[in-house]
Amino acid sequence: MKEKITVSLIKADVGGFIGHGRGSEEILNVAREELEKAKNENLLIDYFTCYVGDDLQLLMTHRKFIDNPEIHKLAFNIFMKCIQKAKELKLYGAGQDILSTAFSGNLKGLGPGIAEFAFVERESEPLVVFMADKTEPGAWNLILYKIFADPFNTPGLIIDPKLNPGFTFEIHDMKEHKKIKLKAPEESYHILLYIGAPGRYAVKSVTRNLDDEIAAVTSTERLNLMAGRYVGKDDPVMMVRAQSGFPAVGEILEPFATPWLVAGGMRGSHWVPLMPVSLKDAHPTRFDAPPRVVALGFQLKNGELGKPADLFDDPAFDRARAYCNEIMDFIRKHGPFEPHRLPLEEMEYTTMPEVEKKLKDRWERLE
Ligand code: F6R
Ligand code: MG
Ligand code: MG
Repeated sequence: MKEKITVSLIKADVGGFIGHGRGSEEILNVAREELEKAKNENLLIDYFTCYVGDDLQLLMTHRKFIDNPEIHKLAFNIFMKCIQKAKELKLYGAGQDILSTAFSGNLKGLGPGIAEFAFVERESEPLVVFMADKTEPGAWNLILYKIFADPFNTPGLIIDPKLNPGFTFEIHDMKEHKKIKLKAPEESYHILLYIGAPGRYAVKSVTRNLDDEIAAVTSTERLNLMAGRYVGKDDPVMMVRAQSGFPAVGEILEPFATPWLVAGGMRGSHWVPLMPVSLKDAHPTRFDAPPRVVALGFQLKNGELGKPADLFDDPAFDRARAYCNEIMDFIRKHGPFEPHRLPLEEMEYTTMPEVEKKLKDRWERLE
């Protein structure tokens, strides 16, 4: 059997340039240098690095499979080096995503977002890599449902014999640390029962029912839930395999034509519309929002990534962006009121409880 190629996308906020809006070229150079070294030492086949908002993204291909200590250690060391540089540059919130500097073989639980999958590269292997800033892992739920379970989005579910048996969703309960696998189309109502609550449940991966081939994977780390306090939002990533028995690139991008409301934006505490943008526009500004999502297309070649295509750099998404701005205008008018602000249960993981503490003794029992 042919050897599997692993694609690992590991990201962290190592320090922001002018608040939480963007990163710095100097940091990117540190990351590039380290990744190049790892490539020369044959640990990596290839790599790509960029910033989306204030998040440094390390996309790596290798032959070490997922959860590999050497790969996780490489990412961890790069983040630590970048944080050191960010501190020198006095960038904002340097190291905010690293909960612990004690690395013991795996990055899970240490703060960075991780999405990895391994597969035998097909004759041609188109891959779409999504990276978002100022939102959370559950933001992918609705989008993944549309791509892999909604024939109104993906006609391939009806027309293509490989897609027709449907897909299985692995859903994580991020609060209770549990997982469940549910099959679409037969269990689609049950899938929706959970993933309709994106603050708690997130789709971790999607596999093809025909042959259990992995189709998509996301990062599901929720920093605040891990730390038990407000640390920041868990700007998520996702990778989806495309074409020849997987959804077409156009079916994968189609859900982003609507700027869905997702949790994030200012202080990670608001419902705000998700804006699909090109890399050059991936810098949240107004109200630390709208949250941005970038889609980079890679055509794998024996694990080599080559140059990406910036898929939302396309006038076909202009209307989604304009609509997104309209929704921002409207929802912002609610100011500090729900449903713009997240429900109280979610606000527990912000800095708001600290303010509430001050008022605790001012409350009096009703007669
Ligand atoms: C959201 C985010 C920002 C900050 C906000 C306040 O994920 O990172 O909206 O929450 O700018 O930041 P601090 O508390 O660092 O001043
Ligand atoms: Mg930040
Ligand atoms: Mg961020």
